[in-house]
Parts: sequence; structure tokens; C-alpha cells
Amino acid sequence: MARLLIVSNRIALPGEQAARAGGLAVAIREALRKYGGIWIGWSGETVEEAEDELRIQGSGSGRISVATLDLTKEEQELYYAGFANSVLWPLCHYRVGLMDFQRSYYTGYMAVNDRFAAAVARIAQPDDIIWVHDYHFLPLAAALRRRGLKNRIGFFLHIPFPAPEVLRVVPFHEKLVADMCDYDLLGFQTASDERAFCDFIRHDARGVVGEDRSVTAFGRVTRTGVYPVGIETERFALLAIAAELGPETKRLVQSLTGRKMVIGVDRLDYSKGLPLRFDAYSSLLANHPQHRAKVVMMQIAPTSRNEVRQYRALRRELDQLAGRINARYAEFDWAPLRYLNRGFSRNTLAGFYRHAHVGLVTPLRDGMNLVAKEFVAAQDPDNPGVLVLSRFAGAVDELCDGAKLVNPFDVDGVGEAMHEALIMPLEERKERYETMIKVLQANTINDWYERFLAALRGAN
Ligand code: G6P
Repeated sequence: MARLLIVSNRIALPGEQAARAGGLAVAIREALRKYGGIWIGWSGETVEEAEDELRIQGSGSGRISVATLDLTKEEQELYYAGFANSVLWPLCHYRVGLMDFQRSYYTGYMAVNDRFAAAVARIAQPDDIIWVHDYHFLPLAAALRRRGLKNRIGFFLHIPFPAPEVLRVVPFHEKLVADMCDYDLLGFQTASDERAFCDFIRHDARGVVGEDRSVTAFGRVTRTGVYPVGIETERFALLAIAAELGPETKRLVQSLTGRKMVIGVDRLDYSKGLPLRFDAYSSLLANHPQHRAKVVMMQIAPTSRNEVRQYRALRRELDQLAGRINARYAEFDWAPLRYLNRGFSRNTLAGFYRHAHVGLVTPLRDGMNLVAKEFVAAQDPDNPGVLVLSRFAGAVDELCDGAKLVNPFDVDGVGEAMHEALIMPLEERKERYETMIKVLQANTINDWYERFLAALRGAN
């Protein structure tokens, strides 16, 4: 069988907790577990002088090799902190005002894509299937094609694809989209992301989108598809059952002294809507004083992308907000908010989710959000917690019938939803849970990569 080469900027290094690196690394690790293959990406290291050869190591499991490149400090600044995370990330999350564009970012981004392409080309065999992930590598296929590779090359975008009006704000966007058309298959999280891409193709690129989802534009032909990332639903549920008896969950339960818990778990990122979420919790405590001293909100937010100014500013803002909420409402024996800037293992989180009464997933925009799915999978079917979910998370397409939907910009509305979730009768909680778990059982992580890879193999 053909080998699978997966390329993503962030990879889970052997022995590392993929969960800390966000949803992408978790999803890819699962796909590779099944197929085996080579996972190519950034080592996470910045060095004075980077070598061009991939450093290949086994992952410990035997079937997966990890192949990494270091970045120079300058590459990290221009490509990773610069074009990927100060231009594409804010734009794809509709935060035009946060974009910080410099031409050198774009040049650095293209150069790193070229360097990765050269490294991949050196190890690729003609029948390898190459699957590239996320916004760091939009032009990778084009760079591989320039080197003569004829392999099947697929791309999956883990974050939203913006509507043309927003996309047009990115300088060089047309070139980026043209380069995307060098992939054989372009996978999106939701139908609206796919639609946004096709709108651009039709109206800006004057291309043709066929009924069969073929896209002809910029003298190239590609194909699109929607493949919402799932989770290992059964396995995560079992993990949560086991974790409930583990030492961390036990300590957590003890510390709550019978109080209900609301939980949020997010990378510390402005797309996650954390300041508004804190305000919403404040609104709950202000408007529904019966919850004071009866509920604890735990927000786990490991720091992320510290090299980008906006992330540092967000951290300062949240520190202040958290301090203010606790100062305002705390009692000598109750702190309303537990705010932790650190990550936990998936096992530990599974136990925490299971014990929570409310899961708060209120991003202002999110490609999918696997926390929403894992929170649901972790629940006790006989006494499930309630998922409060933003309308702007990709997961809403699948979970809209069971979650309590909110507009994260409506702070008092989110506060109300939290109140309703906290007092929701068991019967309604069960009904909502059952609706959602069925969906999660029908579209697992397995289905995600099987469907994508089947389509990629079949692509012309
Ligand atoms: C999101 C992105 C991933 C990224 C992850 C963590 O999930 O879609 O591509 O790896 O965030 O961000 P980081 O910048 O630490 O890789």
C-alpha cells in the first residue's frame, strides 16, 4: 500500500501530549495510528542555522515516523509568528483589525513553504499520498509541483475559510488561492467554509465550480469537500469513566465541596472569546445571585503563541478580568473563578469534563472545536452536563440540536444560558445529550480521515 506522508506545522513529538498543541495534532495522530506513515513538521525549535535535511525519528509506536525541520529565528518570526499567525489566523477568524501585515512576512512564509517542499520532495516516493494540513502550508502543493511531484496531494484546512470580502483584505490572497488549486483535494470543516472558497473561485477568480465539486480556476483543476473533524467518541467516553476515579478528578471533586462546576478549556487565543466569557460569568453572578457560592467556573487556558503581541495583550487582559471577578464576588470560603494558564493531559481533562455541570465553548469563530465534542463524549449518560456552544464554532453544524446555542457577543445572553444550563432538569439534559452523542458516534475521527483519504485516492 502507498505510504502516507502527512505535513503539518505543529506535530506531536514522540512522548508529547498532542492535546497541548490543539485539535490538529490530536486529529492527525489518530489518523496516523491507523495507517502508519511519516509525519513531517516543525520541530518546535529555533536555531541559528537550520539544516535542510529532515530529522527522522520513530514515534515509539513503530508505525509512525516523525520527520522534523528546525526553523531559524527569522523564519519563525516571518513565517510562523508573522504571516501564519499575524495575518492568516486573524483574517480566517474574521478579526480584520488584528491583522498585522508586512511584506517580509509573506516572503518568509513562501520561503519556508519552499524549504519544506524541498525536504518533502527529497523523501517522497512516486506513489506516496501526501496530506498537508492547515493555513501554514497553503502554497506547499504548488512548491511541490514546481519540483515535479505528480503525487496525490490533499489539503485540509482546520480553521475557517473567510468570506471573499474578508479574504480580499489579505495582500497576495489571489496567489494563495491559486496555489491552493494545485492540491488534488481541498477539505474544509464546514459547508460554509467550502461555500466561501467556491464563492471566491466563482466571483473573484472567474473560475468554474462543478456540480461534482470540481473547481477549475487559474488553469488548474481541483476538488473540494466537507469533512468535519470528529473525535474518538467511544474511547474518550471510556477515558472519562476511568479518569473519574483518578487522583486529579478526586482532588477536584473534593475541592468543590458539593458546588457545581462550569468548565472552559481553550488555548489562550483571542478567537476563543475568553474576555467576553468571563464577562458572561460575571453577568450570571450579578443577575442570578442564587448561584453565588454555589458554582465554580474553571477556565483552563494554556498560553499560546507568546511571540505574537496580540496574545501577550490578551493574557494581560484576562489576568485583570479574572482578578476583578474574584475580588468582586469571592467569599472567604469561595473563589468564583479558577483560571489556570496551563495544560492538562487528555485523561485528566476527560475526568474534569465528566464532573462538570456545564461546558462553555464560546469562541467568536472556530474551525471546529474538539473540546465541544470531547465534553459531550465524556458525560455520564445518566446525569449529563450541558454544553453551551457558540453559534460561530464549526461544531455547531453537528451539535446544534443538543447544545444550548449562544451568540458569544451577547454577554448577558450567555450568562442567561449558563443559568438555564445550571438549573436544567435531568430529563432535558438527557435528551440533549442523547441527540449529540448519536451524532458524535456517527462521525468519529475515523470517519474523518477515512472519508478524506478515500476522496483523495479517488481524485483525478
Ligand atoms: C489550531 C490550528 C493548528 C495549530 C493549533 C495550535 O488548532 O488549527 O494548526 O497547530 O491551533 O497552535 P500552534 O500555533 O501552537 O501550533
